[in-house]
Amino acid sequence: MASGHGSNFEALVQACRGGPLRAEVVQLVVNNPSCGARQRAERLGIACRLHDHRHHPQRQELDQQIAATFAACPVDLVVMAGWMRIVTPALIGAYPGRLVNIHPSLLPSFRGLDAVGQALAAGVTLSGCTAHLVEEVVDAGPILVQAAVPVLSGDDHGSLAARIQAQEHRILPYAVALAALRLDRESGTPAP
Ligand code: GRF
Repeated sequence: MASGHGSNFEALVQACRGGPLRAEVVQLVVNNPSCGARQRAERLGIACRLHDHRHHPQRQELDQQIAATFAACPVDLVVMAGWMRIVTPALIGAYPGRLVNIHPSLLPSFRGLDAVGQALAAGVTLSGCTAHLVEEVVDAGPILVQAAVPVLSGDDHGSLAARIQAQEHRILPYAVALAALRLDRESGTPAP
């Protein structure tokens, strides 16, 4: 699931295609018709479905549509790879322990919107990113992987965001692998 440029989406695809992740990205869902993620899906040959949130005034209704799209694939895990909408139990409940989010801060610090701006405003010297399982509280849920980066003097929003994003691309595939491992452990299935 992606709302913007889709660089995390592409990093996941590359991690599956000749990278360390033994998985396949079969379906992208976007909520913005002109987002970069949609163009990347086309270039990468991955099915992309648009669920425009503007056509669904109720969040719950949008999430029901998204869950139905994934149920039709079907998929084992769903990754919110730069999904800029709050999700509801309609999606969370459909993928318990199977919904992964990436957030540009060291959670539990700086939840919510503009985490990079929040970190700069707070004057922290260390920031980073967190991949976690999604639960009903926004930007909470069990942490899978974190990566820390320094906040350098002279950093602006763009430079700090870029440093954090490079780490997002690195940790997201490992977060997916860890989420799959947790599911295997719960079901008693040996991990591949
Ligand atoms: C990422 O920094 C993610 O943490 C945040 O939105 C950004 C999405 O970037 N939620 P991209 O669309 O993957 O390039």
